Amino acid sequence: MKIIEARNYKELSKIASEIIIDEILEKPNLVMGFATGETPKKTYKNLIKAYKKKKVDFSKIKTFNLDEFYPIKENDLKSYRKYMLVKLFNKINVDEKNIHLLNGSTKNPEKECLEYEKKINKKPIDLQILGVGENGHIGFNEPGSSRNSKTRLVNLTHRKGKALTIGISTIMKAKKIILLASGKKKAKAIQALIEGKQGNKFPVSFLKEHKNLIVVVDRKAGSLI
Ligand code: GLP
Repeated sequence: MKIIEARNYKELSKIASEIIIDEILEKPNLVMGFATGETPKKTYKNLIKAYKKKKVDFSKIKTFNLDEFYPIKENDLKSYRKYMLVKLFNKINVDEKNIHLLNGSTKNPEKECLEYEKKINKKPIDLQILGVGENGHIGFNEPGSSRNSKTRLVNLTHRKGKALTIGISTIMKAKKIILLASGKKKAKAIQALIEGKQGNKFPVSFLKEHKNLIVVVDRKAGSLI
């Protein structure tokens, strides 16, 4: 595991976007795993800026997103689908047919998850971007999730409702992972990861055994390590 401590959120976002851009320059048809939430927002803004300055071409990349609420309508403003379109995909030249999102309005979530997992197995993720929840969740793999979990329907711990998420084992298959954590409220989860002893109480700690993990924290998120 490589740990990079950024001074602040701005620097964290710069580091993350530079890693992504370098990987795409090296492999134009990179398979990207994208995350949502607050943390990667500025990273995505940086990607859009780089695209506008013609520093990077997204036309051949393939994308898989981590998770989605369930059930949720396609155009619900709270959906992760909408988030990705508004915050990134509509503003870069990614090819629509290369975008993969879990369908939160499906009538058959089991089938949706099985098919999504198969698609990822066919096009393994080269670079997975991850955030982390305060309780150590990654994607929507909440505490209690097994190391062997695959893409599935889950119950959410801290809010009402369910979600579709790729599993811990699905995430672990990514060739490279960048985990981003900003702010004091993430410090415990980062500590659990570095100590790596918490198992499924802090699912993020499973990442410790990954062969190619880069953890980018700002000072506050890294304050307990
Ligand atoms: C959410 C998402 C995760 C995200 C995490 C952290 O619930 N399911 O994919 O990484 O929580 O979010 P934030 O970056 O807003 O702190």
